[in-house]
Amino acid sequence: MAYKTIIVEVDDHVALIKLNRPDALNALNSQLLEELGRALRDAEANEKVRCIVITGSEKAFAAGADIKEMSEKSFVDAFTSDLFGPESNAIERIRKPIIAAVSGYALGGGCELAMMCDFIIASDTAKFGQPEVNLGVLAGLGGTQRLTRFVGKSKSMEMHLTGRFMDAEEAERSGLVSRVVPAKKLMEEAMSAAQKITEKSLLSTMAVKEAVNRSYETTLREGTLHERRLFHALFASEDKAEGMSAFLDKREAQFRDK
Ligand code: HXC
Repeated sequence: MAYKTIIVEVDDHVALIKLNRPDALNALNSQLLEELGRALRDAEANEKVRCIVITGSEKAFAAGADIKEMSEKSFVDAFTSDLFGPESNAIERIRKPIIAAVSGYALGGGCELAMMCDFIIASDTAKFGQPEVNLGVLAGLGGTQRLTRFVGKSKSMEMHLTGRFMDAEEAERSGLVSRVVPAKKLMEEAMSAAQKITEKSLLSTMAVKEAVNRSYETTLREGTLHERRLFHALFASEDKAEGMSAFLDKREAQFRDK
């Protein structure tokens, strides 16, 4: 089914998902979140896709959950439908690498969506924030948990309690984003990073994603054991044989995801 609130292009093994509600600064309404989940599931199932990039417009990655839509919901509506629960699970379940390319506002659910991606490349115009406190609520897509892990308690607490925005320079300094690039080069840089990922074995990149994410969930001992077992498992792959032979033969590896 066609999408109305996002634009999806698959090219050169990269699925580019562009959030597209320009009149509302890409506010995340239920339709957009449903379409995003569907596009991510399609990309996961599409054998051609080896990396996913999520982006917004120059002015806004996403200015948060749709406040108009939320304003009409009661506690009973939110609780019984588990508002944002299924959407959040749908994104977390994706095993292929996802890059967030962020320009302009990434606020509330927008900041949380970016943090659910595997890494964030930001333009120098990016602004991150969790201003839900101004609406009488708090983050609902993992912001209190993820931002704290990214930037530490003090900064996270200040941002959640005061609603202060963080600019791109501070976001890089604090470890929220992997790097900052000039706004005009954002998509070129994000697609180039995605391209590099597509050249690896998908077995390796999926294992990397799983192992790094495990570091949030478990102890150091369990996490390193899990990593080591994945490492051992990849010794059974043809791509491990190809990668190591290619190095020794001084040639480019040709991975086949086997
Ligand atoms: C619905 C929104 C919106 C939002 C902007 N718009 N953000 N609509 N939900 N989150 C709409 C505005 O109403 C306006 O529509 C149009 O987009 C342009 O926005 P302006 O405010 O006129 O733009 P500007 O003056 O440049 O200010 C930009 C802004 C401001 C600073 C980003 O829009 C803003 O503060 N937005 C809300 C940010 C926020 O509180 N986010 C957290 C949401 S709660 P009209 O029709 O008037 O032109 C949340 C909960 C997370 O995310 C839970 C899990 C998902």
